[in-house]
Amino acid sequence: MLTAKNIKKNYGNLQVLKGIDLEINQGEVISIVGASGAGKTTLLQILGTLDKADSGEVLLNGVDYSLLKDKELAKFRNEKISFIFQFHNLMPEFTAIENVCLPAWIGGKDTTETTKRAEELLQLLGLKERAKHFPSELSGGEQQRVAVARALINSPAVVFADEPSGNLDSKNAEELHQLFFELRKQFNQTFVIITHNEHLANMADRKLVMQDGVIISDV
Ligand SMILES: Nc1ncnc2c1ncn2[C@@H]1O[C@H](COP(=O)(O)OP(=O)(O)OP(=O)(O)O)[C@@H](O)[C@H]1O
Ligand SMILES: [Mg+2]
Repeated sequence: MLTAKNIKKNYGNLQVLKGIDLEINQGEVISIVGASGAGKTTLLQILGTLDKADSGEVLLNGVDYSLLKDKELAKFRNEKISFIFQFHNLMPEFTAIENVCLPAWIGGKDTTETTKRAEELLQLLGLKERAKHFPSELSGGEQQRVAVARALINSPAVVFADEPSGNLDSKNAEELHQLFFELRKQFNQTFVIITHNEHLANMADRKLVMQDGVIISDV
């Protein structure tokens, strides 16, 4: 489903990615681990169209990112790709359910259908009673679950997460991790997750270990 071929990226004379090859299948939960500075975030951003490689190819469902013009790329990203970050990045002036709906509204989707799906997702994530609250009125774990619902509203091909539980206590982190696997079971959702949490990394179907801009292990 997602293919990366010989991805290279430099910042000045620093070689951050030195030729990454990767093949990710639909419904896989993949973890990426490695020391700080190994290139994990850089790789995730390139796989997620937020950054461009200096050379190499990335294809999602057969679509080569480099062939898309800016507008097409923005539409493609909105429809096919979602992100979950360490800090939830929810819009403070919107309620939980509005935050969940935003990517669908941006994509011009039907309001009634979007609201229905957002309600279903919030219910599934145990947030039904919190739907009308603002982010500042939610706990850290709840905020992050809203971010997960937001990531799923457009039924993306892949969800990229960069240390999604990095800011949570161990109980909330564990719940969030269980959720990823539950969502994979229910929706066959693909996840690519950078994590420093060893337990989560080992729960994944595959664990990619990065070191100095290369993948040194993929099992
Ligand atoms: N925009 C940038 N300009 C210059 N150098 C950068 C830039 N972004 C990242 N780097 C450098 O590239 C290297 C890889 O960074 P990256 O963020 O991918 O690491 P990481 O594996 O995600 O680390 P961490 O676990 O600390 O998040 C680091 O040495 C970093 O300083
Ligand atoms: Mg990083």
